[in-house]
Amino acid sequence: MKKDLQSRINDKTAVIGIIGLGYVGLPLAVEFANNSFTVLGIDIDKKRVAQLNGGENYIADVSNKSLKQLVSSKNLSATNDFSVLTDIDVVIICVPTPLNKLNDPDVSYILNVLDQLTKYVHTDMLISLESTTYPGTTRELILPALEKRNLTVGKDFYLCFSPERIDPGNEHYQINNTPKIIGGITEKCTAVGKLLYESIIDSVVPVSSPEAAETVKLLENTFRSINIGLANEVAIMCEKLGVDVWEVIDAAATKPFGFMKFLPGPGLGGHCIPIDPHYLAWKMKTLDYNARFIELAGDINTSMPLHVLELISSGLNQFQKPINGSKILVLGVAYKRDIDDVRESPALDVMTLLEQGGAQVDYYDSYVPKIKWNDTDKYCQKDLAAETLKSYDAVVVLTDHSNIDYDLVKSESKLIVDTRNVFSGIKDSKIIRLGNRQIS
Ligand SMILES: NC(=O)c1ccc[n+]([C@@H]2O[C@H](COP(=O)([O-])OP(=O)(O)OC[C@H]3O[C@@H](n4cnc5c(N)ncnc54)[C@H](O)[C@@H]3O)[C@@H](O)[C@H]2O)c1
Repeated sequence: MKKDLQSRINDKTAVIGIIGLGYVGLPLAVEFANNSFTVLGIDIDKKRVAQLNGGENYIADVSNKSLKQLVSSKNLSATNDFSVLTDIDVVIICVPTPLNKLNDPDVSYILNVLDQLTKYVHTDMLISLESTTYPGTTRELILPALEKRNLTVGKDFYLCFSPERIDPGNEHYQINNTPKIIGGITEKCTAVGKLLYESIIDSVVPVSSPEAAETVKLLENTFRSINIGLANEVAIMCEKLGVDVWEVIDAAATKPFGFMKFLPGPGLGGHCIPIDPHYLAWKMKTLDYNARFIELAGDINTSMPLHVLELISSGLNQFQKPINGSKILVLGVAYKRDIDDVRESPALDVMTLLEQGGAQVDYYDSYVPKIKWNDTDKYCQKDLAAETLKSYDAVVVLTDHSNIDYDLVKSESKLIVDTRNVFSGIKDSKIIRLGNRQIS
C-alpha cells in the first residue's frame, strides 16, 4: 500500500513538481533536488525546459555544476506536459504575477496553471502557491476550482500559501536559511506544508491562514517601497538644504535602535518592490479603502527617473550643453548591484527620458549583454576603456555593480551623475551626486 503524503515527505520519496522555472522556481527546484527529492519542473517556455534538461543553467543564483549533476543523476528534470501532475505529490506554483496596464493585478498566469491543475489534482496532493498575490487569492480563486473535483481540502488534498522571499544576488541569505512563512486553508494543510518546507529550510513560520501569509509578503515589500520612497524624498530635501543625504543616512544608521537604513536611488526596480504594493492597494480599493502610504511612496519612487534627468541636465548646463544632441553613457541597467535582471529597472526609464530629450544614449553593464529597446535589441558597449569614457558628454551611474573601475570612470569622464554614491565624499565639480547638491 502507498504510504501517506507525510511519510513520503519524511522519507523524501514524495515527488515534487515546481510550476514556473524562473528566478523563484528554478532555485527552489534545485534546493529540493539537492535534498534528495525527485523534482520535476513544469514550464510553458520550451526553451527553458530544453535548457534545464540539457543541464544548462540560466539563473545567476543557481550553481551550474550543481544543476548539471542533479540533471545527470535524474533528480531534476523539466517538461511542458502538465499530465505529469498525475504522479506528482507536491505542487509548488511559482508563475509571474505582474500588473496590467491599469496597475491592477494580473493573475492570468495563476489562472492558466489552475486550468491544468484542476485536470490532474488527486488525493493526498499538497499544493503550495508561492507567487506574490493579493490577500484572498488562495481561498477565493484556487480553492473553489480544486474543490469542483469533489475533493475536500484538508482531508483529500492540502492547500497553502507560502510566499517566496528570495533575494537575487544575496550571498548570505539563501533558500535554506531564510525563514519561510506558511498559511494553509486548514490546520492540517499548514502542518503538511510546514513538514514539506522543513525538509529544506531551517525555520518555517506558520500563520493562521493563507490570507495572513499573503498579507505578510505584501507588508514586507510595501515596507521596503515606503522606506525607499522616504529615502528618495529626503535625498531631494537634502539637495535643497545643501546637505549630503548619504552622510545623513550613514550617521542616522549609527543609532542602534529605532532606525533602519534605506538608500535613495534612481527609482524602484525588479519584479517585487515596484509591483507588490499595488496588489495590496488594489485589494483595499475593493474594500473601499485608499492605501495612502502606498500611493505616496509610488508617486515619489516613480518620479525619481525624472529627477535624475534634471540632475543630468543641470550638469550638462555647466558645459553650455543641452540634453538634445549630447552623448550619454548609462553605467548599469540591472535594477540592482551585481545581478542581471532588468525587469522594471529605473535605468530603462532614465534612458527613455534621455532619448525623448534628444540625447544619444548607450549603456555599459557586463551583466546585461543586450536589452530590448523600442522593439529592437540594444547592445552593451564593448568595453569601459578610457577612450570610451572620454567620448561621452556625461556618464550616469544608475547601478553600482562592483566590477566597475570607478577610478577610471572618475579620471576619464567629462561629467558624472552618480545616483548610487559610488563617489562618496569626493568633491569635484564634474561629479554630481544624487542627494548632495543645491538645485536652485
Ligand atoms: N524574482 C524575485 O526576486 C521574486 C522574489 C519573491 C517573490 N517573487 C514572486 O514569484 C513569482 C515568480 O517570479 P519569478 O521572478 O520567478 O518570475 P519569472 O518570470 O522569472 O519566472 C516565471 C516562470 O513561469 C513560467 N510560466 C508562466 N506561465 C506559466 C504557466 N501557465 N505554466 C507553467 N509555467 C509558466 C515562465 O515561463 C517563467 O519561466 C512572482 O509572483 C513574483 O512576484 C519573485
